[in-house]
Amino acid sequence: MTLKGHVHYVGVNDRVKHRFEGLWFLPQGVSYNSYLIADSEAVALVDTVDAAFFGEYIEKIQAIIGERPIDYLIVNHMEPDHSGSLALIRKYYPGVRLVGNAKTLEMVDGFYGARHEGDLCVGDGDSLSLGHHRLRFYLTPMLHWPETMMTYCETEGILFSGDAFGCFGALNGHIVDTEMDTHDYWPEMERYYAAILGKFGAPVQKGLQKLGSLDLRMICSTHGPVWVNEIGRAIETYRRFSAGETEEGLVICYGSMYGHTQRMAEAVAEGAAEAGMRRIVIHNLSVSQPSYVLLDIFRYSCVAVGGPTYNGGVFPVVEDLLKRLAGRSVAKHKLGVFGGFTWSSQAVKCIERYNEQMKMQLVSPPIEWKQGVGADDLAAARALGRAFKA
Ligand code: FEO
Repeated sequence: MTLKGHVHYVGVNDRVKHRFEGLWFLPQGVSYNSYLIADSEAVALVDTVDAAFFGEYIEKIQAIIGERPIDYLIVNHMEPDHSGSLALIRKYYPGVRLVGNAKTLEMVDGFYGARHEGDLCVGDGDSLSLGHHRLRFYLTPMLHWPETMMTYCETEGILFSGDAFGCFGALNGHIVDTEMDTHDYWPEMERYYAAILGKFGAPVQKGLQKLGSLDLRMICSTHGPVWVNEIGRAIETYRRFSAGETEEGLVICYGSMYGHTQRMAEAVAEGAAEAGMRRIVIHNLSVSQPSYVLLDIFRYSCVAVGGPTYNGGVFPVVEDLLKRLAGRSVAKHKLGVFGGFTWSSQAVKCIERYNEQMKMQLVSPPIEWKQGVGADDLAAARALGRAFKA
């Protein structure tokens, strides 16, 4: 698939993997995007694909360049969904020179033992000419690994952005947004951000600042569609999420063994509804997939977390969410806490301890009940719901 002139798409679709990184649900698969620039003086490959797809991948490359060798493999990101075929590319093309920064090349050794003397170590702002195309490299550390960088083709205005601006969801025939209905990919970009980049708001903001002056005519990320018409929307999505901007809304996240916490969660929702909150989402954490819960938390301004005491702490599915949130930028959210116990009060204390890391703002003192919930407890939960709208 030719994207522009001598720039080609050579990515693949993974419709088999059930969970990305072993964690995040993939109901519509995922694409591993790689790009080939077959220029007059040199051929460059930008990132590779998961090694499981190497057979299909090398066929796509050879269909474009035939017997011509690859001169450079530009490594924007070392996570193995993109670097997985690096060592095999090196075997097929022994003369290929890797292009990466100092951290990249150290990881090439660590992951694959495949660093060669002729590899190019680039710094921020360095450039490389392929003949017609001039590439410039921008280091974007912690977006979302320390070695991540982006490659900008000055000739065509194409940004090879790595994971940034990517999304879950395999590509269904189309590659470029100009030719497809992108509707289903936008929530998947937000879910990808919440799951993968949600901890790295500050580095994302820095990266956006660094790219701000570039003339962007095409964004080629490593997952999902190539952006041409909707570059602005992709950048705005990243700006909004990385700044912690949310819409008004309440996400109620709870775990329940025998229904008491669930009744309290319903009462919190009723209170918020009474107070005029229009957008309320409830996740039973024993049922909801974590990335969808995180997505809603990144979208909406208020979070209520509740669960029973369990083995001296909080119910495990609730603790799992708290651990995930503690590693993400969520400090601008309002938080409500509710928890129960039968003989030893631990759930509320545990949620509060996690909030020392999450740093959300408590809207009211936590609500706690012993054994079964009564009318007073449900009234307190409704008051908590109302407090989110105050
Ligand atoms: Fe798509 Fe961070 O790998």
